Amino acid sequence: MEDKIVLVGGGGHCKSVLDCLWRQNPHAQPVIVDPILPVGSTVLGAKVAGGDDALPALFDAGYHQAFVTVGSILSSSTRRKIAGKLQDIGFSFPVIADPSAVISPFSVLGHGVFLGKNAIVNAEAVIGDHAIINSAAVIEHESRVGAFVHVSVGSILCGNVTVDDDAFIGAGAVVIQGIQIGKAAIVGAGCTVKKHIKENVMIRGLTVEEEASCPRY
Ligand SMILES: CC(C)(COP(=O)(O)OP(=O)(O)OC[C@H]1O[C@@H](n2cnc3c(N)ncnc32)[C@H](O)[C@@H]1OP(=O)(O)O)[C@@H](O)C(=O)NCCC(=O)NCCS
Repeated sequence: MEDKIVLVGGGGHCKSVLDCLWRQNPHAQPVIVDPILPVGSTVLGAKVAGGDDALPALFDAGYHQAFVTVGSILSSSTRRKIAGKLQDIGFSFPVIADPSAVISPFSVLGHGVFLGKNAIVNAEAVIGDHAIINSAAVIEHESRVGAFVHVSVGSILCGNVTVDDDAFIGAGAVVIQGIQIGKAAIVGAGCTVKKHIKENVMIRGLTVEEEASCPRY
């Protein structure tokens, strides 16, 4: 990873990512791009350089790596838009992983993946581009996590689980082995999921045994 890096989005998720970045690379030189925060203000010691219109100038100034630090609760559409814009300018996307994360050498991580504190990615798991594997989330062996998925804090994907692109797995949820979670589905915090979940469906409740409970709003 290069030291210079642009983080896009200066809110709460940015603080989680930045804290891990400093721990991963104490020489990092991050700048924040955020349309709302005042230029020159700081987030955990990193300066705010401006809004999106600052991105091309930052690229020309030698910042060739970027990371999407807008969080995604429920929808990944903002993160997708930002990643597309960054890619068009030419930025590349490193993996940011807290040093406490455990990453199997037999796993595969895509571009721009975030692994928070104490996250675990076990053997032959595959993590798609720009996925968030948040603090203490566990991705067990041979599970496949799609692009722009958010696996929230403390949730567990047992072995051989598939989570399709853009889905959201809430905090503390448990997905039993072999289950498939469809594209852009939402699994509420604390659910135990025992049946496949179709795409674009939101589920909540302690134990989800039906294919789908409530339609997504
Ligand atoms: C599932 C979720 C998306 C539903 O949000 P929502 O549609 O706005 O739901 P509401 O808050 O309006 O609640 C509607 C009902 O569902 C219940 N409910 C909401 N979330 C629930 C959950 N996770 N488990 C069980 N019941 C839940 C509420 O108690 C409420 O019940 P009631 O109608 O009997 O009063 C949301 O509650 C959730 O779990 N979000 C994930 C948060 C999270 O994991 N954040 C982690 C960030 S790292």
